Amino acid sequence: MKNILITGGAGFIGSHLVRHWVKTYPDTMVVNLDKLTYAGNLENLKDIEKMPNYVFEKGDIVDSELITALFEKYHFDGVIHLAAESHVDRSISNPMEFIRTNIVGTVTLLNAARAAWNGNFEGKRFYHVSTDEVYGSLGDEGYFTETTRYDPRSPYSASKASSDHLVRAYHHTYGLPVVISNCSNNYGGFQFPEKLIPLVINNIRHRKPLPVYGKGLNVRDWLYVGDHVQAIDLIYHQGQNGETYNVGGHNEKQNIEIVKLLCRLVDRKLGRSEGESESLITYVQDRAGHDLRYAIDSHKLATTLGWQPSVTFEQGITLTVDWYLSNEEWLRNVTSGDYLKYYEKQYGDRL
Ligand code: NAD
Ligand code: TYD
Repeated sequence: MKNILITGGAGFIGSHLVRHWVKTYPDTMVVNLDKLTYAGNLENLKDIEKMPNYVFEKGDIVDSELITALFEKYHFDGVIHLAAESHVDRSISNPMEFIRTNIVGTVTLLNAARAAWNGNFEGKRFYHVSTDEVYGSLGDEGYFTETTRYDPRSPYSASKASSDHLVRAYHHTYGLPVVISNCSNNYGGFQFPEKLIPLVINNIRHRKPLPVYGKGLNVRDWLYVGDHVQAIDLIYHQGQNGETYNVGGHNEKQNIEIVKLLCRLVDRKLGRSEGESESLITYVQDRAGHDLRYAIDSHKLATTLGWQPSVTFEQGITLTVDWYLSNEEWLRNVTSGDYLKYYEKQYGDRL
């Protein structure tokens, strides 16, 4: 039996990855380490929590004693590291938490892996899940490739860039068998509704204003979360040590296009008149330092490992709308309590 540590497995992408791994690899014990911050929710994994090859450990990746003890307890063959503070807006109001978790937490894991594996790297792998935001912001033309110069511009992306550099440094300095992927914006079920797509679906549902930053012309390259999970699996098993792979869906959309599309889809599903909810669109003060455009060139992953997204944007967004409309209880649970305080602080004087 192999043992793998997945960090941040109670979050959005992490929960999809844990579910996939537990179901696809019954001979691998999947250990999910998560601090259960506001973004982590064990309800995301209810369907697999009793599987014999799954175990949850609550804890903080910055806690070096705990991480060392987990390596001693489980003798991990591999780590897939997703735990992070992940929301740009929160990084603007509270950068320190991002430095702590995303940078110090990553180094804590690297140190523990290095000590436990102690130069015996046969069959071992440390996979760091990162973002395209490390490359900065594009103008109207061009794509991010694996050799694009790092140019992070928010505290979030700067903390992720820093962690990427440290992961590479541990490869070059200590020979740690690492692999990194930098992915574009994900969407799908179980995403915390502070991010654009679930926030807008939830607000349409409740006829609340739909906050669009600036003029809504910023572009993101959207990838269905299941396709990201497939890419992680492929890179974990077949990627080359020390390499970076960009993952993207070739689905560039302006924010306003996304918001209008969601209005149409949700209105149709709820039996409202077509596009009725567009009247809820409210342009609000722009995000500070708002990156204009992200777009990924995932040519390397396609040609070297044969990855392609399996879901079109139209299919993925329909699945996503259906998921949120049929999981109202999940939305209600995660939007009670602290979420209301966050929402008031983030949007109170903007809307
Ligand atoms: P998320 O915010 O939904 O989940 C993060 C998880 O990490 C939560 O379960 C949280 O409880 C846990 N966590 C936070 N701090 C922790 C700590 N100190 N110790 C242990 N656990 C902690 O994030 P997500 O959207 O699922 O993103 C997962 C990873 O993928 C992140 O590293 C992010 O940078 C990266 N990524 C995300 C996207 C995206 O569009 N969401 C795109 C590219 C890359
Ligand atoms: P988000 O989902 O926060 O992801 P990221 O900032 O990592 O790309 O935001 C996606 C885009 O949507 C981004 O350009 C900011 C914009 N946005 C809004 O216009 N309104 C909102 O309420 C939110 C949360 C985001």
